[in-house]
Amino acid sequence: MQILVIGSGGREHAMVWKLAQSKKVDKIYAIPGNPGIAAYAECTAIDIEDQEALCRFAQQKKIDLTVVGPELPLVQGLTDKFRRHGLVVFGPSKAAAQIEGSKSFAKDLMAKYQIPTAYYQVCTSSAEAKEYIRRKGAPIVVKADGLAAGKGVIVAMTEAEACKAVEQIMEDAVFGSAGVKVVIEEYLEGPEASLLAFVDGKKVVPMLAAQDHKRVYDQDQGPNTGGMGAYAPAPVVTGELYEQILQTILQPVVDAMAREGCEYRGCLYAGLMITDQGPKVIEFNARFGDPETQVVLPLLKTDLVDIMLACAGGQLDDLTVEWDSGAAVCVVTAAGGYPVGYNKGEEIYGIEAAEATGAIVFHAGTAKLGGQLVTNGGRVLGVTAVGDTIASAQQAAYKAVHEINFTGMHYRKDIAWRAL
Ligand code: AMP
Ligand code: GLY
Repeated sequence: MQILVIGSGGREHAMVWKLAQSKKVDKIYAIPGNPGIAAYAECTAIDIEDQEALCRFAQQKKIDLTVVGPELPLVQGLTDKFRRHGLVVFGPSKAAAQIEGSKSFAKDLMAKYQIPTAYYQVCTSSAEAKEYIRRKGAPIVVKADGLAAGKGVIVAMTEAEACKAVEQIMEDAVFGSAGVKVVIEEYLEGPEASLLAFVDGKKVVPMLAAQDHKRVYDQDQGPNTGGMGAYAPAPVVTGELYEQILQTILQPVVDAMAREGCEYRGCLYAGLMITDQGPKVIEFNARFGDPETQVVLPLLKTDLVDIMLACAGGQLDDLTVEWDSGAAVCVVTAAGGYPVGYNKGEEIYGIEAAEATGAIVFHAGTAKLGGQLVTNGGRVLGVTAVGDTIASAQQAAYKAVHEINFTGMHYRKDIAWRAL
């Protein structure tokens, strides 16, 4: 088979790495890919928002399965375009991707179908939003309705902070049209977990629960990032809780989407807060998580091509998805200054030595400059190790990280601490 993967991050590197293990795969293409992905796939630079060009590429190369990594092309309807041209694609339709693309859509759907989440109000003016904030008090959470590259959520500890966030989003339009509406939401407390699931329109097969580390510094201090590391399985999601999340959140939302005429096929990501009253939804994403994918896929035993084809074709019922009994830990090495301002173009050393320890080094923000590998983003590498236990996987991941070096490099020293 000929496979095409769209995207360029650590998540896509993990997908390509896993897909390359399938005996069914003859060749993998990636658009645009990255230097790590290039070890397994032929990379081509095409704008991932150019649906015409992507579709033409898939037809010319006779692609049997296209996997869409990031949310932007999903929300823009790339999979609809591919399906109209008879191409097989893994990822939700434009209508279904609204579950991530519009927070108000997701919240209204959860309210209608009694799926546990924070109480909220959708506001279309800053006056309405501020009035609601004053009525509910702080702490409170302000969310831009649309896609804001992971920056549209402000957890405000005071009313003043919340009102300032509303002004920035609605009056100063710092996220453009993504901030025409805001969702003001109850502040939830508890440990977080990510439960991703394979979905074929009806059937839901959850993956192993994972935990991301969003804050930049150890002990969950400092500003939020795209994710500084992850581990799986996350013991906070006990067997009982896993069943409860499937029965009260994942299956109901997939059933609800079908009933609303926007059947969900692809990977559905539930970001959850495990509160005293049980698991509640923080957000849904219409794609795999980053860096959750870098710890979940290395533990997958079943052929990922088979799973993705079953999701696309509505045949997940016929498949048993199996996992390794071990654990995986991924430590992200970030560029100096990330998540605020950071340099690009710093030479990266030690990847081979890191891989020689048995770890997998996923590229997130790298580029080749005159034959030398250099940094090209905030999150540069995701170093993943697998072990029998979370403790041994953690030890192995850090052993590999210690081999890697670039100017300004920083990383958290405590990935997986909650599980140990
Ligand atoms: P998101 O961009 O939706 O993933 O949100 C980023 C982070 O904000 C989450 O990982 C949570 O830590 C936090 N967050 C989002 N919604 C809430 C909420 N309702 N209560 C408390 N924290 C939240
Ligand atoms: N790890 C958070 C996300 O993928 O949205």
